[in-house]
Amino acid sequence: MTTQYHDHHLPNDALDQIFREARSYNGWLDKPVSDEQLHAIWDLMKMGPTSANMLPARIVWVKSEEAKAKLVATASAGNQEKIRTAPVTAVIGMDIDFHEELPWLFPHTDAKSWFEGDVEGRKEGAFRNSSLQGAYLMIAARALGLDCGPMSGFDADAVGAAFFSDDDKVKVNFICSIGYGDPESIFGRSPRPEFGKFNTIV
Ligand SMILES: Cc1cc2nc3c(=O)[nH]c(=O)nc-3n(C[C@H](O)[C@H](O)[C@H](O)COP(=O)(O)O)c2cc1C
Repeated sequence: MTTQYHDHHLPNDALDQIFREARSYNGWLDKPVSDEQLHAIWDLMKMGPTSANMLPARIVWVKSEEAKAKLVATASAGNQEKIRTAPVTAVIGMDIDFHEELPWLFPHTDAKSWFEGDVEGRKEGAFRNSSLQGAYLMIAARALGLDCGPMSGFDADAVGAAFFSDDDKVKVNFICSIGYGDPESIFGRSPRPEFGKFNTIV
């Protein structure tokens, strides 16, 4: 019998790695992450769906000591070490003027015109879709054997000014440290409810 493509199921150990055993890390092993690994994350995450293929996320991968110091200075006290000790922290920005790129990103139709003059609609689209892209980033990183530590405890305007300074149209959504997580740095897993708690099938 020919197996249908949609019947393909990742092996359980892959699901463990991406979901069941993956944790949000607070501390990091002293093991570097290469630029090639960051490219590999992008090459997977960019394939995740966004509305009209708008891809509003603009990502700055903070790796150098100088850039890290700038990012640390914007972070809440509890998050500073989580950035300082991480091999890299991704700043996930969102371009409110993403529609300028739609003529080539979504060539089937004139999607740019849907957003012209609609700043509120663009902010909503940029936030929704860059949040999705941030999630794809974490799933891709975990699939590639890396760990993540997402954070929203920082001054978004200060991060925007530090990393997207020429570009007022880019706002910051969240940041995510990436590396090899230190198992000593996490608490026990917080509860994850059964299906019936927050789901219905109608
Ligand atoms: C968008 C976002 C923002 C977060 N902000 C912070 C933060 O500022 N500081 C922090 O220590 N953890 C932060 N977390 C981590 C969460 O508390 C953590 O992902 C959650 O408790 C689940 O933990 P687990 O993945 O280990 O099960 C954030 C997570 C997400 C997704």
